Amino acid sequence: MLKQFLSNITLVISFIFICNSYSQDSQSLNCNSYELNGNRVIFGCDKGAKLSLKFLDSRNIKFWYSPDGSFKRNNESFAVINDEFDKDYKVDVSESASNFEVFTGDLRVIVQKAPLQVQIFDKYQRLVLGDLDAEAYVTDGSGVETRKVLREDEQFFGLGEKAGPLNRRGRSYKMWNSDKPCYSENEDPLYKSIPFFLSTHNYGIFLDNTYKTEFDFGDKNEDYFSFSAPDGPFIYYFMYGKDFKEIIGSYLRLTGKPIMPPNWALGWSQSRGLLTNENLTRDIAKEYRERNIPCDIIYQDIGWVDGLQNFDWREDRYDDPEDMLSDLAEKGFKVIVSQDPVISQATKAQWEEANNEGYLVLDDRTGKAYDMPWPWGGNAGVVDFTKPGVADWWGELQQKPLDDGVKGFWTDMGEPAWSNEESTDRLHMKHHLGMHDEIHNVYGLTWDKVVTEQFNQRNPNTRVFQMTRAAYAGMQRYTFGWSGDSGNGRDVADGWDNLANQIPVGLSAGMGLIPFWTTDISGYCGEITDYDEFAELYIRWLQFGIFNPLSRAHHEGNNAVEPWLFGQEAEKIAKRSIELKYQLHPYLYTYAREAYDTGMPIMRALVLEYPGDEKTYHAEGEFLFGEEILIAPVVEEGERIKEVYLPEGDWFDYNNPQKLYEGEQEIEVDAPLDVIPMFVKAGSIIPKMPVMDYIGQMDNAPMILEIFPSKKTSEFTIYEDDGTTNDYEHGEFVKTRIATSMSTSGMNIEINEPEVSGGFDNSTKRNYWLEVHLTEKPASVSLNSEKLKKSKIEKLQENWNSEFDKSGYHYDKEKKMLQILIPDTKESLEITLKY
Ligand code: NOJ
Repeated sequence: MLKQFLSNITLVISFIFICNSYSQDSQSLNCNSYELNGNRVIFGCDKGAKLSLKFLDSRNIKFWYSPDGSFKRNNESFAVINDEFDKDYKVDVSESASNFEVFTGDLRVIVQKAPLQVQIFDKYQRLVLGDLDAEAYVTDGSGVETRKVLREDEQFFGLGEKAGPLNRRGRSYKMWNSDKPCYSENEDPLYKSIPFFLSTHNYGIFLDNTYKTEFDFGDKNEDYFSFSAPDGPFIYYFMYGKDFKEIIGSYLRLTGKPIMPPNWALGWSQSRGLLTNENLTRDIAKEYRERNIPCDIIYQDIGWVDGLQNFDWREDRYDDPEDMLSDLAEKGFKVIVSQDPVISQATKAQWEEANNEGYLVLDDRTGKAYDMPWPWGGNAGVVDFTKPGVADWWGELQQKPLDDGVKGFWTDMGEPAWSNEESTDRLHMKHHLGMHDEIHNVYGLTWDKVVTEQFNQRNPNTRVFQMTRAAYAGMQRYTFGWSGDSGNGRDVADGWDNLANQIPVGLSAGMGLIPFWTTDISGYCGEITDYDEFAELYIRWLQFGIFNPLSRAHHEGNNAVEPWLFGQEAEKIAKRSIELKYQLHPYLYTYAREAYDTGMPIMRALVLEYPGDEKTYHAEGEFLFGEEILIAPVVEEGERIKEVYLPEGDWFDYNNPQKLYEGEQEIEVDAPLDVIPMFVKAGSIIPKMPVMDYIGQMDNAPMILEIFPSKKTSEFTIYEDDGTTNDYEHGEFVKTRIATSMSTSGMNIEINEPEVSGGFDNSTKRNYWLEVHLTEKPASVSLNSEKLKKSKIEKLQENWNSEFDKSGYHYDKEKKMLQILIPDTKESLEITLKY
């Protein structure tokens, strides 16, 4: 007993100690020698320490500081899949009495010998990143901290899905995946650890260390910023780029591309803590269709399962799950079920099997399965996803509901839950790959990997759907994300600050390669006792949420958050907002593909698109949806006039397109409850589709092009593929470039011949429907030089998804909009407007 108590105390003390104290014993760290091997230079320092710089190419450098020079690590990186950007890359080192120097063409890296100080300059001699004089690496026991010069004008963004202001300057943060229900606007750490940040001085850093790392962006001291790790290899990647887009691109090359969601994942979804029975699920589905509110996904929370985590349906709640799933599928619904990463001791047979096979995380004090308290189902064993054999075992289990017709998973509680910083007992958990202090932050990631890889193996050529709460850098290769238990648990109607903070949380997630993301629309926490009182907050949360790529309404317990429960006005507004999400689907899907290719998030902080505009450094209440649309959700109770900052360019008010604003100014717009302040940049072409109950419901749907003219030329390339298979990975898709240009006498709209790639079947018949915002009716409209006839709008829209041989146009005087119908001939089309 006493021994165990003492061992606990020692562990706690040493944990607190290594996390918090770094002394400055490195004053004497001198590095006088080097070895060069191709693209890697290893500098030999005092007391056997070594610093390795591996040049991945001329702009990206892997740093590894090893205090004992052994470059030892327990595990290969969990996040990095490629640190060979240019396999043939080589560098030269030149040496002077005081320095070593490597010049890459883009960067000049100067390594001062005594004391060690690395400074990275761009080719114009501007300092990009420099060690703080004599405090390059401060060590204490096994921990290392590095301190870097902090410039007065330097701003920081990133660290993935974290609360607090988007701009991280002057703050400090920790990485320790934590379950923090009803977290506040400044709660840290949260569920995910993405130790990647960006600086306005043109670089990014990814600290690839899974321990409890810390980041201080000028909180303790204004002269330097720092990052540290209490143990493990001190490896970080320096990524230089002309802008954040390029740096995010390098981070993507390092850690992998995000998975491409099935098209329906970008629709609307409904959930609830106790949405865990067949009747309720069927009822909700019926209501959605009866009320014509679009919806693609219905979630089942963890109560669907008979025993944690046997993947069997609870018989008392589901009469015939297969039948339910096929009925729902007929109506266009996809069902996603929750899974937890534990086996409850109450699920006796499965627990014994897992225990006997050694599939559970051990307790280093007893050598037996670690006894984990779990919020439901009693104490549990934590599944060790790094143990050989577990992946297959889990894959077979999770396949059961998939075979029944379930479409994917919501992986919950992977911190693993109930193991926050305070729960130091968890540090006794011994995983197959290491002790808990090393594995904690990647536990969720190792689970996500199994879920997706097993899904892919067993469901060939089907896009995986997985949405997760806890993870580490690299998670994008396996899963989407959501921001967990937001909202105000004490007073649900007082969750306005929680809502406001979800905007920077989501934007920061996006910058950390979590492009497919959602908040819990309505906030997760809090009992809703007065639906009328809560309606305003619900509506404003939803108006933000429809621009989250994944859009899920979810709330704790049996608090229903279906859109029709908050009164008629709220239902009307919710329906219109959700319909808008569906109308924008072709635009959203094009940006989903961009996220897959480049890592650029769909919900973009303004600073990503307008890095030269200092006003964007603190613009965290608004964001770009793709490149063309700016959203400024209302997040204050009673607010009916919204202040919005518009960056460079001219901006149409989407809610009143006759109003055009000049950019680089703050404006005020009316924002009654039914209005989401939304702006479209002049010169934008927005592809849209008609509203439908679910993605893909309407065959041969017209492709709608909404055009917001500008004096300059403009273009948009629409991306389309089959939406659900993995054939896009083999190049099966089609891209159609649309361009507009102005002449003195009118306007030209080109729909270029579609560029079909691979064997993609692009023969589907359809029409184009153009909506051009024009203040004056044009004198003539022609298609490929032939004049089109004027027609009534009803005539044009009649059978627009079944007749493909008519064309014509209509000018709507009130809307000041020209509408044109033309068949998609799959050839180039040129539309000319003469004024
Ligand atoms: C915690 C999750 O964050 C929440 O969304 C879920 O409803 C509960 N677990 C129950 O499974």
